[in-house]
Amino acid sequence: IFLSLAATVAAYLLGSLSFAVIVSRVMGLSDPRSYGSKNPGATNVLRSGSKAAAVITLLLDAAKGWLPVALVRWFGAPHGLEEGTQALVGLAAFLGHLWPVFFRFEGGKGVATALGVLLGISGWLGLATLLTWGIIVFFFRYSSLASLVAAVFAPFFYVLGAGMAWYSDARVGVTIAVMSGLLAWRHKANIQRLIQGKESRLGSKKKG
Ligand code: G3P
Repeated sequence: IFLSLAATVAAYLLGSLSFAVIVSRVMGLSDPRSYGSKNPGATNVLRSGSKAAAVITLLLDAAKGWLPVALVRWFGAPHGLEEGTQALVGLAAFLGHLWPVFFRFEGGKGVATALGVLLGISGWLGLATLLTWGIIVFFFRYSSLASLVAAVFAPFFYVLGAGMAWYSDARVGVTIAVMSGLLAWRHKANIQRLIQGKESRLGSKKKG
């Protein structure tokens, strides 16, 4: 239990690294919290005009969700860390991204980090969710809409996978559902903009 708790705290601290802010700072770009949707996430960093910064942000924000889950999955069992701890560290990294201790608890919406967690749980689960995101972006060009649809599908993909006996654990399933719920809630403003037809399309620059 001590190890599980230590891993959870470490995952939260890792999740608290808001890479949109860090990468922008390192690359000499303006703070993503100052323009566009003001969200510290890859989608908004893209609005700065730097594709490289957006891609690096996406990869690092996803990696911080993926790494703790993968580490527990690979090395946890001999130390008594099972699926429950996978779920816990994944959720902790996700919560760190939403409420980062290093950034006055003002974080992002959790899309990339949730994707990383899903990939850590199961490559297939992550890929199915990423594909869902990609299909919606391809047809509609809204990152937020794609994230919302992918978040709705992710728990169903897990249940589907569980049904096929690739993986199944109630705690992991609940964690995915909780992440989806929080992610959707963090998109309140996006949902309003989508309904009003005011949401900005992926890649379109916007100063604010
Ligand atoms: O990555 C979050 C995305 O779904 C929406 O981002 O900046 O358009 O609010 P944004």
